[in-house]
Amino acid sequence: MAITTVSSPALVFLVVVASFLCTSTRAQHSSCDNSFSFFEEGIAGNVTHCRKLRTLGAELGWSYHNTTPNVTLNIVFSAIPSAAGGWVAWGLNPGNRPQMVGTRALIALRPANGTLAMNTYNLTRDTMLGCKLQPSPIEVQVSNMQANFSEETGAITMSATLSLDPSTYNISELKHVWQVGSSVVDQVPQKHRMRLKNFDSFEVIDLTTGRGFRDTGLTKQRVAHGVLSVFGWGILLPVGVIIKRYSRNITKNPEVWFMLHISFQISGYTVGVTAWAIGIALMSNSRHFNTFKGHRTIGIIIFCLATLQIMALWLKPKKKYEGGKIITDRPRKYWSIYHHLVGYTLITLSIVNIFKGFAILRPPPVWKWIYVGLLAAFSCVAFGLEVAIWVHKSRNNKKTSR
Ligand SMILES: *[C@@H]1O[C@H](CO)[C@@H](O)[C@H](O)[C@H]1NC(C)=O
Ligand SMILES: *[C@@H]1O[C@H](CO)[C@@H](O)[C@H](O)[C@H]1NC(C)=O
Ligand SMILES: *[C@@H]1O[C@H](CO)[C@@H](O)[C@H](O)[C@H]1NC(C)=O
Ligand SMILES: *[C@@H]1O[C@H](CO)[C@@H](O)[C@H](O)[C@H]1NC(C)=O
Ligand SMILES: *[C@@H]1O[C@H](CO)[C@@H](O)[C@H](O)[C@H]1NC(C)=O
Ligand SMILES: *[C@@H]1O[C@H](CO)[C@@H](O)[C@H](O)[C@H]1NC(C)=O
Repeated sequence: MAITTVSSPALVFLVVVASFLCTSTRAQHSSCDNSFSFFEEGIAGNVTHCRKLRTLGAELGWSYHNTTPNVTLNIVFSAIPSAAGGWVAWGLNPGNRPQMVGTRALIALRPANGTLAMNTYNLTRDTMLGCKLQPSPIEVQVSNMQANFSEETGAITMSATLSLDPSTYNISELKHVWQVGSSVVDQVPQKHRMRLKNFDSFEVIDLTTGRGFRDTGLTKQRVAHGVLSVFGWGILLPVGVIIKRYSRNITKNPEVWFMLHISFQISGYTVGVTAWAIGIALMSNSRHFNTFKGHRTIGIIIFCLATLQIMALWLKPKKKYEGGKIITDRPRKYWSIYHHLVGYTLITLSIVNIFKGFAILRPPPVWKWIYVGLLAAFSCVAFGLEVAIWVHKSRNNKKTSR
């Protein structure tokens, strides 16, 4: 009964949040105009197609000629490195999926004190494991390499002409990747940041239509994981705790309050575990399994504590009555201390992990602030109730002492 009354506002909440998150992703242009930085800089060359890539503020422009035996492809790629002295990269992967390992890349370096340099690189498994990245020839013939830096926008623009063997690189389904990094040491590009947007910088592109394809299921899973986690662990559980704490001092219908507490905690657990399962699936599908270690570990601890907490209900010592009055016996007292300890640890860890999650997923900042506002509201309510309980108690004490 209580669970169904909880779940309908939950549904509305989820739908609203999900729709906001979906509409906030950037619209992608397909026509070339002045909104592309390489046009403003006058470096566009002959490109006839343009596309704003989905992450890192990167832009790609191109034109192609179906020459034989190889297709001639002119590209312009522009992105803003995350710091003044950094690098930008763009490349094609001849393998089955767009990913860093195996990519034949063009990288433009701009060391803090040095001059702009551009070269071809072969990205291998060793590169990912942290080996020094040195320029190397690649199987694709590259000519007219040119790199430009704009003081005004901070963007680095690369342009080049590629000769693509159509049996390896099908321009209707090219696997391309891009990246930016914030430092260059001794002409060697250093590791990029480990954020989702750095991992999401790939897609399969059809150069003939300008459309890009990617796995949108992943984004939906992440949004679902985030929204359900916040709702289950971050809202329902603390509200259930507040209800329980307050109900202790209500002598009327304590069972109703107790049932309300239980139904909040059980729905919180159900929603939270669903979110947790999605999170585990995301982690195991990810090629960056070890990147968000802290978040993952805390998530697993939360799941274990919450499961313990639910199971502990059955282990709760029965109430003992003596002359119609409840007596607090030892086992019950210890159980209560244990239950509170685990409960408050669980709430604290959940809140910590939710903020870790915000830092990983980086939704529009308003969502984080809404949650901060909610937490502040919970704290105010809890504090107010605490005061009310205290006033109530001290009045009762006065009455009895008179
Ligand atoms: C533009 O296209 C023409 C003809 O295809 C070619 O000769 C010229 O080099 C191209 N310019 C650039 C900047 O790519
Ligand atoms: C750049 O040059 C200045 C002065 O020549 C020097 O103080 C600074 O350490 C250099 N920075 C880097 C990153 O090499
Ligand atoms: C680039 O690396 C791949 C392995 O990822 C290797 O098979 C290929 O031969 C390398 N290409 C060149 C030109 O070294
Ligand atoms: C871009 O850089 C090249 C050298 O790499 C230079 O010749 C060219 O004039 C620059 N173009 C613009 C528009 O700054
Ligand atoms: C066509 O591309 C292949 C590999 O991409 C290269 O080995 C070959 O030299 C190219 N042929 C021409 C005529 O450019
Ligand atoms: C390139 O991909 C398109 C679309 O997937 C396909 O129809 C076409 O046959 C492919 N061309 C080659 C040469 O593999």
